[in-house]
Amino acid sequence: MAVSPAAYAAPAQIPAGPIHYGADYNPEQWDPAVWREDIDLMRRAGVTMVSIGIWSWARIEPRPGQFDFSRFDEVLGLLNEAGIAVDLATPTAAPPAWFYRQHPEARLIEADGTIRQGGSRGICCPHSPAYAEAAARITEAIAAHVKDHPAIAMWHVHNEYGAPGGDCHCEVSQQAFRAWLRHRYGTLAALNTAWGTDFWGQLYGSWEEIGTPRHSGTALNPLCELDYARFTSDSLLARFTAERDIIRRYDAASPITTNLMATNCPANDYWRWAEQMDVVSTDYYLEAADPDAHIWLAMESDLTRSLAGGKPWVLMEHSVSAVSWQPHNWAKLPGEERRNALAHVARGADAILAFQWRQSRRGAEKFHSAMVPHAGTDTRVFREVCELGAQLQDLAELRDSVVNARVALLWDWNSFWAQDLAWRPSVLMRHRDQLRTVYRWLWERGTVVDLVHPESNLDAYDVVIAPASYLLSEAAGNNLAAFVHRGGRFAALPFFAVVDDDECVHAGGAPGPMREVLGLTVAEIRPVRQGDTVTLTPVQPQAGVVHTAMPTTLGSSRYLTAHTWSEDLRLEGAEAVWTAVDGPTPGPVVTMNRYGKGVAVYVSMLMDRDVLAEILEPLLDPPSDRPEVDGGIPAPKLEAVTRHGANTNFVILINHDDVDHRVDVAGTDLLTRETADSFTVSAGGVRVVRTVRTNGD
Ligand code: GLA
Repeated sequence: MAVSPAAYAAPAQIPAGPIHYGADYNPEQWDPAVWREDIDLMRRAGVTMVSIGIWSWARIEPRPGQFDFSRFDEVLGLLNEAGIAVDLATPTAAPPAWFYRQHPEARLIEADGTIRQGGSRGICCPHSPAYAEAAARITEAIAAHVKDHPAIAMWHVHNEYGAPGGDCHCEVSQQAFRAWLRHRYGTLAALNTAWGTDFWGQLYGSWEEIGTPRHSGTALNPLCELDYARFTSDSLLARFTAERDIIRRYDAASPITTNLMATNCPANDYWRWAEQMDVVSTDYYLEAADPDAHIWLAMESDLTRSLAGGKPWVLMEHSVSAVSWQPHNWAKLPGEERRNALAHVARGADAILAFQWRQSRRGAEKFHSAMVPHAGTDTRVFREVCELGAQLQDLAELRDSVVNARVALLWDWNSFWAQDLAWRPSVLMRHRDQLRTVYRWLWERGTVVDLVHPESNLDAYDVVIAPASYLLSEAAGNNLAAFVHRGGRFAALPFFAVVDDDECVHAGGAPGPMREVLGLTVAEIRPVRQGDTVTLTPVQPQAGVVHTAMPTTLGSSRYLTAHTWSEDLRLEGAEAVWTAVDGPTPGPVVTMNRYGKGVAVYVSMLMDRDVLAEILEPLLDPPSDRPEVDGGIPAPKLEAVTRHGANTNFVILINHDDVDHRVDVAGTDLLTRETADSFTVSAGGVRVVRTVRTNGD
């Protein structure tokens, strides 16, 4: 049971216009003479929207309760005259120095007692009444001041809630945690039962005895830790909705968002956040040194689109070239920024914004790239910025078109939080690795996926895969069972459905509510010695009912290998399709069970991507969203995603390879206006082909 915020009806969408283009604009750092040059350059670059005000609290409210909007008004006026839409931020991610001086008690206290001081940025204690009051005051002052201003097109509340984390352990936070627990459990007896406090004699006799999970002798109570993660997400969300509701009193129409961090924010359960936002927006920075960086970018985009319920979303921040906070900051190669930006567009973004417009000369982020670099406009970066701006204008007709995925991956922050707690069978079982292994296989085969909560409606999907669902509620189990029963194809990777929502092992063991669907029970978890591999061999399929479009068996090779983790499976209806011939657990490793009209596959060991791909490949039909490339030769680095419009489709082709590829897709490339039956996508190049829609597309 979760403590839900009140239902919220999102009233607005991304501001009308083209695919928006722009950045965080921080004019506070510059002299007004520079602002005029900024506006000219923004027009040259095709900028249509900027986020302002993110770090402006100390300027707008230099003393408590005293406001100065003079510089702010001038900037708003200049942007308005230039027809550049404003995404106006509330500046509550960086309280002024006077606030910390006046309210030292509002500073965030970390789990080890360290007090987080000012002098940087980031929220203070999210439960602090002084912070709540000050945040409400500045939000209201700004909303009232700009009321009906024609430049305001969208609101950007705060900045990246949860970065750096909002998990506070001060006395006020302890009280807030207890109140949250009372709401969740009702009685102390219910809490004691759920938390299993008889273990290690942790029984609580009064609510006041309960504390946030701080440093202790050894492992903490796991459900206390999981509840604290849920509580922190809810606390930060409450800060967002408080500001949102103040803004809404002054502006009935403009959409309100806050910039999420897609897969990179461990602090927040974004499924709950997305329900409270008019428009979903996210920030994404490349893992620049990783040769697969473009694959992880795609995963972030797919998650963001999924959070947005399939509706278009906003890329609120990314870097046009290098960042400055990775250990060794690679600048983007020529053409890379265009591929990155259009990959976000391909997966549903209707706005591409960067951090930041003009590269800072002072402060912590002066080596982070920006649309206008230190060296000015006669630079590769600025030239590419202008080219991209022009191309995004050519893609205006993509606005509001959508991506339709037929394959879904389960994604649940509760499960990730729980899986990452202490004292698991192996620290080598990492949910992120499992997700990436599956995602990368699907990306390379050209299959576009949605990420879905396990309790969400699965009607749109043919195939659902659970790469890392350690925690699976009874309700999620029923949902997945219904999906398989009516003909869905389902696969789960190991350490699946071990605990319920209360972090309590399902009665009878894993896979709890999915035992009947998968036709098996996990008798024992038996990690493989680190570095060892286990040999797998296929089992001939038994005779049985074979349903149309269902695999009769999985995989075809003679031998494959798996590693790290194994489980002793007790088959209760499932057929073994791959078995281990050596290692700690000889016997069934991959199983298949027919359930209703569908099929459920279980993979009980960890495997490299190629092995997993071979085993699970027959589950996928249709095979790929990618049109035929080079007459049928595999082209795993040719990204192809279709956005479906009202009357036309748009096939976005992005070539991450260093050789050209020929793609069979008929239509008009919106970037070059060429019309053809097939297109060469040059090495590193991009095509956006408007196709004629046929029945069923
Ligand atoms: C984050 C922040 C930005 C900026 C960028 C780049 O996403 O929101 O203010 O610091 O990182 O480092």
